[in-house]
Amino acid sequence: MKHGSILVTGGAGYIGSHVALQLRARGERVLILDDLSRGFRQAALDTPLIVGAVADRERVRGVLHEHGVDTVMHFAAHTIVPESVREPLKYYRNNTCATGALLECCLEAQVRHFVFSSSAAVYGVPAEGFAAESTPTAPINPYGTSKLMSEWMLADVARAASLRYVALRYFNVAGSDTGGRIGQATPNATLLIKVACEAALGKRAHVAIFGTDYPTPDGTGVRDYIHVEDLAAAHVDALSYLRGGGACITLNVGYGHGYSVRQVLESVERVSGKRLAVREEPRRAGDPGALVARADRIRAELLWRPRLDDLDGIVRSALAWEERLLRDPW
Ligand code: UD1
Repeated sequence: MKHGSILVTGGAGYIGSHVALQLRARGERVLILDDLSRGFRQAALDTPLIVGAVADRERVRGVLHEHGVDTVMHFAAHTIVPESVREPLKYYRNNTCATGALLECCLEAQVRHFVFSSSAAVYGVPAEGFAAESTPTAPINPYGTSKLMSEWMLADVARAASLRYVALRYFNVAGSDTGGRIGQATPNATLLIKVACEAALGKRAHVAIFGTDYPTPDGTGVRDYIHVEDLAAAHVDALSYLRGGGACITLNVGYGHGYSVRQVLESVERVSGKRLAVREEPRRAGDPGALVARADRIRAELLWRPRLDDLDGIVRSALAWEERLLRDPW
């Protein structure tokens, strides 16, 4: 059967651009919709880029129709937890309301498949620090709530219409394209591995550890860091699953084990050969202590097989990307 085009919203952003690249490499017809508010034109590489907002119904209707889109992969969103605590309505508007508008257009255009970029932030602070898909959702910041509300809309829409979806709850994404073409380029980044790599290269004076009194083995926050290329591959697998007739499903994407902030900083020192200036600071608003995936289900359902589960390897690719940005800023 001939497949339609795939619309990747937010495809000029960090994760969306890696997914678009993998889809193109598989010979899919892909187009990107991105308002470039946080994305970069360069990140689209040679994938056709439409500059526009997900919430612009007229624009989205036109794109879905003109390009014969049958699958939407939806990444466009704001993603910074502390910012969501300061400006909650921005998150409900950009993430939840915009997703609602996009879903309306998808129903009108009879889009068949939807892959949604959700987040481990929907779990809040799970008991023992591990979250399975069956763990009760209880977000502790507006970012997590904005994503959970989108999941609920998606589930209700799928019950009422013929659209089928995979919602992927990402844990902590890091690293960059092994070909060195794209990576995380957001200015004033807040992600730990990026911040620490910037510090190793002298772009920042120091790295802060936000909280040393969490109930974790060394008192610092523990996360499940996953390489962006393994995460992108999960989307390609989700597409195969949906095309194969798979039922609507929500899945964690993580490796199933975590590292503390201190362990990450040690890895950055090891890989870069530099000593980091580290400052211990109070906890950051909205941060859970430990958040690690129970990640068996995605392997069973999507046959996802991660290839890059190695903290030093993730840090090496993140560092290579920061070195490239030093030479050639975006
Ligand atoms: C990230 C994602 C979020 C996702 C979550 C899932 C982004 C911007 N954030 O948030 O969307 O829901 O993973 O777990 O994509 N830390 C420091 N110093 C720093 C920066 C961070 O100590 O300078 C600590 C944090 O307190 C936390 C850990 O490092 O314990 C990871 O933080 P960060 O990289 O900002 O990611 P999350 O907040 O977990």
